[in-house]
Amino acid sequence: MDWQSLAYAIVQVAHNFGAAALVGSAFSALWLADRQPEIRYKLAWVMLLGWAVQAASGAGFGAVSFLYYGELPDIHGIAIAALVIKIACAAGGFLLAAVYLRAAARWAEPARTRAWRVQAVLSATALTAAAFLRWFS
Ligand code: HEM
Repeated sequence: MDWQSLAYAIVQVAHNFGAAALVGSAFSALWLADRQPEIRYKLAWVMLLGWAVQAASGAGFGAVSFLYYGELPDIHGIAIAALVIKIACAAGGFLLAAVYLRAAARWAEPARTRAWRVQAVLSATALTAAAFLRWFS
């Protein structure tokens, strides 16, 4: 058994499902759950967990490298920029989801929709950055 590949695959499963959950939930909240605050509230929890899973599993890729090679992957230029963008999206999205869960019940409908628009942009940006991280590293 190739344990290193198994470790990468397990981390990647979490990371892939996290990405699908984030993009799917953000766009569902925006387009399908338009006037249903109940569904949006549940989706906001998925966003909060999703961003946390992405940060943890993203760090997990680095941890597996460190475990097997004693160093983090050597990336430069566009790959670094893509990684920084993903980290910024995850931090911003997590914060926004936390604020939304605490306060959105008191917000007017347009403000809630704006928050979901930001979540959709952040998740789509992170997913796009993932392709650049993958192919420029
Ligand atoms: C703190 C946040 C994040 C970190 C540290 C992180 C880190 C990473 C790393 C190290 C990889 C492996 C790159 C490679 O295969 O060369 C990866 C892959 C990937 N990440 Fe992230 N990531 C983060 C957030 C996200 C988010 C928010 C999404 C999507 C919404 C995402 C989607 C993906 C996808 C789809 C891949 C697989 C790309 C491929 O192999 O084609 N990541 N990520």
